[in-house]
Amino acid sequence: MRKIITFIISVVILGLNGRAEKVDFAKSIQGVFEARCIDCHGPKKQKADLRLDSEEGALAEVVKPGKSGESKLYKYISLPADHEDIMPPKGDPLTKVQIASIKQWIDEGANWPKELVLISSKDRAAAEADANKLPEPEIKESPVSDAEKAAIARLISGEGLGEKFSAPLVMALAQNTKLIYANFRLVGKNVNDEHLAPLAEIQNLSELDLANTQITAVGLGHIKGSKNLTKLSLANTSIDDAALKQIEGLTNLMSLNLYNTKVTDVGLASLMNMKYLRKVYAWQSGITEKGAAELKKALPNVDVNLGFKLAKVEAKKEEKKETPKPKKEETKPEKKEEKKADVKLVSFNKKCPVSSKDVDPTKLFSINFCCGNCLADFTKAPANHIAKVKGPDNKKCPISGKDIDASKQFVIGFCCGNCLASFTKAPAKHIAKVKK
Ligand code: HEC
Repeated sequence: MRKIITFIISVVILGLNGRAEKVDFAKSIQGVFEARCIDCHGPKKQKADLRLDSEEGALAEVVKPGKSGESKLYKYISLPADHEDIMPPKGDPLTKVQIASIKQWIDEGANWPKELVLISSKDRAAAEADANKLPEPEIKESPVSDAEKAAIARLISGEGLGEKFSAPLVMALAQNTKLIYANFRLVGKNVNDEHLAPLAEIQNLSELDLANTQITAVGLGHIKGSKNLTKLSLANTSIDDAALKQIEGLTNLMSLNLYNTKVTDVGLASLMNMKYLRKVYAWQSGITEKGAAELKKALPNVDVNLGFKLAKVEAKKEEKKETPKPKKEETKPEKKEEKKADVKLVSFNKKCPVSSKDVDPTKLFSINFCCGNCLADFTKAPANHIAKVKGPDNKKCPISGKDIDASKQFVIGFCCGNCLASFTKAPAKHIAKVKK
C-alpha cells in the first residue's frame, strides 16, 4: 500500500515537472535563483548573511543534499503565501512547478555545476545591454583657442560670400559644450573651397553640413584634421572618389551624407577605417548595393541608405546589342546586368505617366521629404498627398511641413519636356498613373 502511495506521489511530482529525468540545474533551477533570489542573496546584498550565487554559499547551511525536508531553503520557499518568512519576500511566491523542481533537485543530491557562479537576472541583462552597445567615439573637447574664436567669427560674418545677410550657421552644438555645429547648406551655392579655410582652425568642429556647396577636394583638405567631426554632409556636391580620400583620417565620423555626389563604390575604400560609422546616405550617388555590402563587411554597424529601388531606364541602342545572343543570357542573368554599363537608376516609374512612353532620365520631377516616414507615406498613396506638392524640388516636406532631408526624395520620370510640363501644371490629374 505504502509503495503504491509513494509511486502515486512520484508520478504527481514528475508529472508537475513534466519530465521523468533528473532535474537539470542549468535548465530548471539556475533561472529561478537568478530571477528571484540573487538580488538579495548575492554579491550586492547578503540578507541573513546568506549567499545563493555559488555552491559554497548555497550548500553550506540552507541546502542539505538529498534531504529537502531538512533544507531551510526548501522550507522557506514552500511556506504559505501569506507567511511573513516566505522566500522570496517580495512578489509572487515561486510556482508549484518551481518549488517541486527545487525539492527534487535537493533530493537528487543538489548537484551544482562545477564553479558555476549565478548572476542576478537584472545584472545579467545590464551586462548584455552593455555588450551589445555600439561603440561610441571618444570625443575630446579642446579649449577654444584664439585662432578658433577668430575662425568662427570670420565664418559667421559671411565674409566673401557676396550676398548681404547670408552667412553660414556656426554655433555650439548644445549648451555646456564647446563642440561646434556648422551649416553651409542654406548659403550653399555661394560657398567655395576658400570660404571653408577657417574650418581648419576649429578644433571642436563636431557636425558639418556642406550640402549644396561648390566644395572640391581642396576644400575637404581644410577638415582633414577635424578629429572631433562625427557628422558630415556632402550632399548635392561634386565630390568624387578622389576627393573623398581627403577625409580618410576622420575616424570618428558616425554619419556621412553622399546623396547626389559622384562617389562610387571605389570611394568607399576611404571609409574602411571609420569604425564608428553608422549611416551612409548614398542615394543618387554611384554607390551600388554591391559596394554597400562590401563596406558592411568591414564595418558591420554601418547602414548604407541607397533610397528606394528605382526603375531601370535603359538606353535604346543597347537593347539591340543585347538581342543577338539571347540563349547565353538566359542562363546567366547577373552577367547581363553587369554588361549594361549605361543602365541608370533614375526615377520611381519606368513609363511616363502622361504618355506611357519610356522615361528620359533628364526629365524628372522630384518631391523632397523630411524623413523616410513621410516618403513612405507618400509612396504608399501619392494621390492622397499630391495636392500639398506645390511644385518640383520643394524645400519643405509636403507631409510634415518640416525642412527636407535631401536623401528622402520621390522622383517621377517623364518621356519629354512636354509631358513634364503637363504634369507640373496639374500633378493631381496625372498622379494616379505614376506606377512602378
Ligand atoms: C528582497 C530580498 C530577498 C529576496 C529576493 C530573497 N530573500 Fe531570502 N531572505 C531575505 C531576508 C531579508 C532574509 C532574512 C529574513 C529574516 O531573518 O527574517 C532572508 C532569509 C532567507 C533564508 C533564511 C536564511 C537563514 O539562514 O535563516 C533563506 C533560506 C532564504 N532567504 C532563501 C531565499 C531564496 C531561496 C530566495 C529566492 C527564491 C530568496 N531567499 C529571495 C531577503 C530576500
